[in-house]
Amino acid sequence: MDSVLPITVIVSVIVGALIAFSIFGNYFRKRKIQVESISKPEKLQPNQNQIQKQPPLKVSKKSHTADKDANKQRHHPLDLNTLKGHGDAVTGICFSADARSLATSCGDGVLRVFKLDDVASKSFKFLRINLPAGGHPTAVAFADDATSVVVATHTLSGSSLYMYGEEKPNVTGESKQQNKLPLPEIKWENKNVHDKRAILTLVGAKATYGSANGSTVIVSCSEGTDITVWHGKTGKALGHVDTNQLKNTMATVSPNGRFIAAAAFTADVKVWEIVYTKDGSVKEVSKVMQLKGHKSAVTWLCFAPNSEQIITASKDGSIRVWNINVRYHLDEDPKTLKLFPIPLHDANGTTLHYDRLSLSPDGKILAATHGSTLQWLSAESGQVLDTAEKAHDGDITDMVWSPTSIPAGDKKLSVLATASIDKKVKLWLAPLLHPS
Ligand SMILES: *[C@@H]1O[C@H](CO)[C@@H](O)[C@H](O)[C@H]1NC(C)=O
Ligand SMILES: *[C@@H]1O[C@H](CO)[C@@H](O)[C@H](O)[C@H]1NC(C)=O
Ligand SMILES: *[C@@H]1O[C@H](CO)[C@@H](O)[C@H](O)[C@H]1NC(C)=O
Repeated sequence: MDSVLPITVIVSVIVGALIAFSIFGNYFRKRKIQVESISKPEKLQPNQNQIQKQPPLKVSKKSHTADKDANKQRHHPLDLNTLKGHGDAVTGICFSADARSLATSCGDGVLRVFKLDDVASKSFKFLRINLPAGGHPTAVAFADDATSVVVATHTLSGSSLYMYGEEKPNVTGESKQQNKLPLPEIKWENKNVHDKRAILTLVGAKATYGSANGSTVIVSCSEGTDITVWHGKTGKALGHVDTNQLKNTMATVSPNGRFIAAAAFTADVKVWEIVYTKDGSVKEVSKVMQLKGHKSAVTWLCFAPNSEQIITASKDGSIRVWNINVRYHLDEDPKTLKLFPIPLHDANGTTLHYDRLSLSPDGKILAATHGSTLQWLSAESGQVLDTAEKAHDGDITDMVWSPTSIPAGDKKLSVLATASIDKKVKLWLAPLLHPS
């Protein structure tokens, strides 16, 4: 780890020189390869100062050649980095609110929390938490802060939720950052939730709407028809709802902790409100709206950052943007603000459906997946910004944007993380909004 900081500085200098004649789309790819090519320990250790004096262009030419020879097919220009170390399919991923931690649930029965101090790093430290034996982890979400993670596991006897918390590290100054990561322990557990059904999605949000007290609420969606709201810190069940739609696909909660929306087998989407009392506790979870317009099953949905819009993707081949800021208590229905065709087709021209959607924190870029394909669209126009056809060597199982930008060398970047059955988590740069 010691060598990483100086390298970053060197690389920054090189990149500065490169920018003059590289287009932005290529720049990070080059930069990452430079990090790899100059961070070979044997070259670095003898004298770091001398390396710094080397003419930067030499290095860049070398990595250019290496790129052409080895990585041309595999490497998409937006592919920034890969988090390795998983022993099986990655089933879920989640960023902490400060985006410095990324938790993953994995089929190998381990919960990992990666520390993302610099997303351009060659390797990442991670905390490894072995889950209780026999459980298959299916989803993960952070509760209040980066030191408390909730994971859903499934066994034949049912689903359980575990919250792991760390004791706050007793750090008094910068120099103590090298301290070992504190060991996490189970702070609460809820066994046999959702009858015997697996938990498909787990999403947390800081409840800031109205009189909510700012604590994190976590929404778990089972493969049946039930959805439960939990208090992140204590594991207390705050409310249950039923979609009554045969089979859930997913559910999510608005960023302000006010609404829950679910995609569940049919074309219509139900929206519930978590109603908070004056003292901040949850009074009830009540159904308030229904999004009606799609002609076939909704496969995924996400909220806009302002919690006032929902984006849905459907098997009818379209994406809709809905305004949910309506007077629903007067039976006013949410209206479709925008309707885009899904711009992804197979070899015969048949429109494919999206498995997953995720909207960037600025609300401008909609990431979508189909199998192992990843696509970025303008949320404003529906226009394709970029496509990575084989983003992973297997289906993508989860996808999430960093809630805020993360340091990457001398920059701060907003990144998208994708998880796959290929045992990898990848980090992607955001595409340019106006490709030439
Ligand atoms: C943190 O460290 C200081 C001094 O090393 C000690 O006095 C204090 O009790 C520690 N706090 C905790 C919560 O362990
Ligand atoms: C904050 O609200 C949650 C429900 O959203 C409740 O369970 C919890 O007890 C509240 N905490 C405090 C300190 O009031
Ligand atoms: C395209 O159509 C042909 C003939 O109907 C079919 O055999 C083939 O599987 C189709 N390809 C895809 C990718 O659906």
